[in-house]
Amino acid sequence: MELKNDLYLRALRRESTERTPVWLMRQAGRYLPEYRKVRAKAGDFMTLAGTPEMACEVTIQPLERFPLDAAIIFSDILTIPDAMGLGLHFVQGEGPRFSDPITDVKQIDQLPIPEADDLQYVMDAISLTVKTLNGRVPLIGFCGSPWTLLTYMIENGGSKTFAKAKSLLYKNPEAAHRLLDKLAQSTVHYLIGQIESGASAVQIFDSWGGVLSPHDFERFSLKYMRQIIDGIKDAGYTDTPIVLFSKGANQSLQSLAASGCDGLGIDWTIDLKDALLKTGGQVALQGNLDPAVLYAPDEYIDQSVKTVLDSYGPKPGHVFNLGHGMQPDMSPEKVAVLVDAVRQYSQR
Ligand code: CP3
Repeated sequence: MELKNDLYLRALRRESTERTPVWLMRQAGRYLPEYRKVRAKAGDFMTLAGTPEMACEVTIQPLERFPLDAAIIFSDILTIPDAMGLGLHFVQGEGPRFSDPITDVKQIDQLPIPEADDLQYVMDAISLTVKTLNGRVPLIGFCGSPWTLLTYMIENGGSKTFAKAKSLLYKNPEAAHRLLDKLAQSTVHYLIGQIESGASAVQIFDSWGGVLSPHDFERFSLKYMRQIIDGIKDAGYTDTPIVLFSKGANQSLQSLAASGCDGLGIDWTIDLKDALLKTGGQVALQGNLDPAVLYAPDEYIDQSVKTVLDSYGPKPGHVFNLGHGMQPDMSPEKVAVLVDAVRQYSQR
């Protein structure tokens, strides 16, 4: 499919672009009234994500409001553990839960390694969305990092201390590595399936990479993201950019940049100019406005966008984004201010 707007892909390849492309993590979701409407019709999150027509509709909703330069397929990182048989559901106000979380290391060796067609609903949602977008912008596919998936599978939801997940790493590292390896293998199938279905780039969300020490991050998180990158590139998919987003792992930016990925998502706790210095221009950078700036007055958003753009500077290879995802209590009007500011200040 010929793309009418390929700014995002060109920026990831570090080619020069006439302006900085912009998309926002979690750009589809509860902050949009039109999302809440479809979500109510679906009844539950998994029905929404599992019905290609509805997933396609909510993927495109933010593009109807804002001139964004990429769409991200509406799904969730926890589809892989679900396909492994853990039984994903969402509890109102509490977030994700599994009916069969991992409570005993013996379960780890019983887990299957899903193939792409075990997640056919995601593949169908991607092909339908690519067809519907008709080349308007690229569609991003995604997954969770093995470490981030492990935390949800062991903690059975979110956690403040990661006591159970970290206990596994330190008490039974062999079992942890077997689980991480299974998740990495499944993810290779999953992302190749997404690319085959039409995703133009893929992003690995390592939302909890930053709760590990730099040493543990290398062993338990980065190692398995590298396994995924190698698996995809070795299978011949060398033209599809792969972006890693390890939130809170700025200590490890050098090794992240050397992982073989094409771009790095950067959270808001580091200046982009420092991130550029650390990564040495080896990869594109995506980020990194503090999402909370969307609670600020319009003028403050405008100036903060300019600060982020200036911090990166004129070098090619910047994709504008937030340093983490949109929140349900944010206002769509503020997103419009942000996107306008990026377009205005980055014009070359
Ligand atoms: O627009 C997009 O970015 C695409 C959709 C997307 C969703 N989840 C939809 C969703 C993406 C990229 C994700 C990734 C995801 N899911 C991550 C990594 C990104 C990050 O924020 O760090 C994580 C950690 C998850 C796990 C997860 N799924 C959580 C913690 C929740 C929130 C639960 C809650 O009720 O707040 C979800 C559910 C979820 N995934 C929602 C959306 C829009 C909200 C649920 C709803 O509409 O009922």
